[in-house]
Amino acid sequence: MAINIAILGFGTVGSGVAETLDINKDVISKRIGQEINVKYILDIRDFPDSRFADLVTHDADEVFTSDIKIAVETIGGARIAYEYTKRALSAGISVVTSNKELVSTHGPELIEIAYQNNCCYYFEAAVGGGIPIIRPLYKCLAANKITKIAGIVNGTTNYILSQMKNEGIDFDSALKQAQANGFAEANPSADIEGIDAQRKISILSTIANDGAYIAPESISAEGISAVTTADMDFAASIGCDIKLIALYEAGDKPVVYVAPTLVDKSNLLYNVCGVFNAIMVEGNSLGQAMFYGQGAGTLPTASAVCGDILEVAATDGKPAENRSWSKESVEITPYDEIKADIVIRVDSSKAVDGYEASVLSDEAVLVKGIKHKDIADLVAKTGAKSWMHYLK
Ligand code: HSE
Repeated sequence: MAINIAILGFGTVGSGVAETLDINKDVISKRIGQEINVKYILDIRDFPDSRFADLVTHDADEVFTSDIKIAVETIGGARIAYEYTKRALSAGISVVTSNKELVSTHGPELIEIAYQNNCCYYFEAAVGGGIPIIRPLYKCLAANKITKIAGIVNGTTNYILSQMKNEGIDFDSALKQAQANGFAEANPSADIEGIDAQRKISILSTIANDGAYIAPESISAEGISAVTTADMDFAASIGCDIKLIALYEAGDKPVVYVAPTLVDKSNLLYNVCGVFNAIMVEGNSLGQAMFYGQGAGTLPTASAVCGDILEVAATDGKPAENRSWSKESVEITPYDEIKADIVIRVDSSKAVDGYEASVLSDEAVLVKGIKHKDIADLVAKTGAKSWMHYLK
C-alpha cells in the first residue's frame, strides 16, 4: 500500500524531500509499513533536468482534488503558501512544512483548521532545520514546565559572525562571502536583521508557553548589521564571542527577544560556529538540554520535513492532541521593562552606582539586571563606548 503525497514548491527544501524519500524508500516503507509515493510536484516552473520532472504539474486544482493524503508546503512566504495550506487543510489533507514565516504569522488559524478537518499541520523543519526540536518540546519534554530557551537559530548570521571572528573581516565582506557560498540569500535582510530568528523564537516560545501565542511582531528583534570588527575584538578580549541569540524566559509576561549577545566561553553556545544552529532548552524537571546540528540546507531540512511525513503516515493523519494555539497573541514583557545582563565598554574605574556590577577587564564592566529603558542613561553617565547583552 502507498500513501500519495504532493510537494508544493520544488526549491531547496522541496527537492531535498523528493530526494530523501527516494534514497531512503526501503527503510521508510519498512518503518511505517507502507510506501510514500510522491504523486505530484506543484510548481510554476519546469525542471526538465530533474529525475522527478515527470511529476511536475502547474495545476493546483488537479493536486487538491486528487487522492493525496499529505501536502508538503515548501513554497515559503505567507501568500501562495497560506492559500494552498488553507486549501489543503480544509480538504482534510495534512500539511507538513518548513515555512517559519507562515507558521509564526498564521499558526493559530492553520492549526485550528487542521483540527476542524481531522488532519495535521506539522512544522518540525520550521525551526533549527534538521535539528529535532518541535516534537521534543511537545512530546519528550511534555512533563516539564519550560523555563527558558536560548538559541542560535539562524545559520546565515552565525556564519557571518564566525567569519568576522576567524578572518578579522568586516560585516560587509563576511556577508559577501556568505552569499558567494550560498548560505545567504540575494536579499539577506530577514536573516541579518533578526527577522528570521524572531519568527523562529515566536514558534518556540508559543510552544513553551503552552500554546499561548506569542506573535513575531510583538518580539523585539535586533540583527547583526551594526556589529563591527572592534566589537568582535572586544568580545575576544573578555573571553566571549558575539552570537545572535533568540531568548525566551517563562513568566506571567514572558521575556522574549532577539539580540546580538556576548556569549561567555563557559556557555556551550560559544562553540556553535558557522552555519550550525543550537537551542538550549531548560525545563523545571529536565534542567538544561542542548539541541545542536545543521540548521539549514537541502537534505538536513528535508530530513525534518520527512520526519513529519512519516509521523502523519504512521498516525493515519489523526492530529496530535493539545497543540492548539490561542487566537490572540498574549502579552509579553515590554522591551523597555526587561531586566537584562549587559556588558558596557567603559573605563572600569568608573562607578556603576545602583546596579550589581563586576569588572571583566580594564574596559569592560558586567551590569546585572538593568532594565532596557535605563541603559541609555547608564551609558551617558559613565561615558561608555557601547553596550551589549551578555550570556554566561
Ligand atoms: N535563512 C535561514 C538561516 C534558513 O540562515 O538559518 C533556515 O531557516
